[in-house]
Amino acid sequence: MAPSVHNVQPVRWAIDGDRLIAVCDNSTVLPHADPAGHDILVSVGASVEGAVLAASALGLKTQVKLENTAGTNERFTKQTTLSFSQCSKKDKLASCITTRASWRGPFAATSAADRRSALTLTSQTSTITCDEFQLEEIGQMADRATFTFMNNNDVRNELLSWMRLRRGHPQWSIDGLNADAMNMNFFEAAGAFLVLGKSFEVLSKMGLAKALVSEARRYKTATGIMVVHCPANQNPVQKGRTFYREWLRLEQLGFAANVVSALADHEPSCASLHRLLDLPGDQKILTALLFGRRPTGTTIPKRARLPLDNLIVDAGALK
Ligand SMILES: Cc1cc2nc3c(=O)[nH]c(=O)nc-3n(C[C@H](O)[C@H](O)[C@H](O)COP(=O)(O)O)c2cc1C
Repeated sequence: MAPSVHNVQPVRWAIDGDRLIAVCDNSTVLPHADPAGHDILVSVGASVEGAVLAASALGLKTQVKLENTAGTNERFTKQTTLSFSQCSKKDKLASCITTRASWRGPFAATSAADRRSALTLTSQTSTITCDEFQLEEIGQMADRATFTFMNNNDVRNELLSWMRLRRGHPQWSIDGLNADAMNMNFFEAAGAFLVLGKSFEVLSKMGLAKALVSEARRYKTATGIMVVHCPANQNPVQKGRTFYREWLRLEQLGFAANVVSALADHEPSCASLHRLLDLPGDQKILTALLFGRRPTGTTIPKRARLPLDNLIVDAGALK
């Protein structure tokens, strides 16, 4: 149920007695979008937090031990070991897991009360702005950052390879980004294929591509943006746990959100955003979540996920 970059779902689980080991499947890679494997490990961390929350719902407290990637073989890298003890206190965020989903559609009108309630979420690891001028500026930064990445043919083709734009795609309900998750109808999906495919370079030269990938309109109707930040040298798995919790805190207040990684990954935008929000110098921006209200009557598309069997690996294989 946890988020993962491009929905690649890199986490695997091994059962070791009464402990659970979270491992990263090293065959799941994004060599162009994530050459250092940072976002893959952040995604593993989100799944680890998902397991901690699921255990809490079962009345269990989890101790999470970060592994220093010992127990590595070529295919799998141990990331954390989870051990459990009885606990009567349940984590309230566990109840937000089932409804959280990336929302890439239009937002319903926002209100002053929404903005006030969103601002209460500001924490040690998240900074929120609901200021319409700042949102507009951040929207422009995000567009510039996205356009820079989309102009890289390798990054764009890699993204396209994880998109499932027609229902008949064999991986439609298994992984990647399907048209429903991206809130695209048949025509929009066909358009996306054309724009992001071979035509992109031509459209870019004609000055049209930027407008076609622009998200500026959504920043006008969003309630706000949550910037998630962590100490620069923190373990990416730990960062992923924080990221997921911050997203669930938005969900708890009924806000739907989507990730805007480009703001963190594009260095000039990341530096401008850091300055704009006056973030502490020891904090590095991990990600940004644009959020607002889903229009009434919208349904959450069915999640594309790997079958559970594919997620379990033999603990012996890790030795
Ligand atoms: C590290 C990371 C980076 C992500 N970057 C983006 C992004 O730039 N744009 C976006 O729309 N979604 C992004 N996502 C969200 C994933 O695409 C999403 O979690 C995945 O498709 C699963 O769908 P769900 O969130 O609806 O469960 C990111 C998620 C993670 C964990």
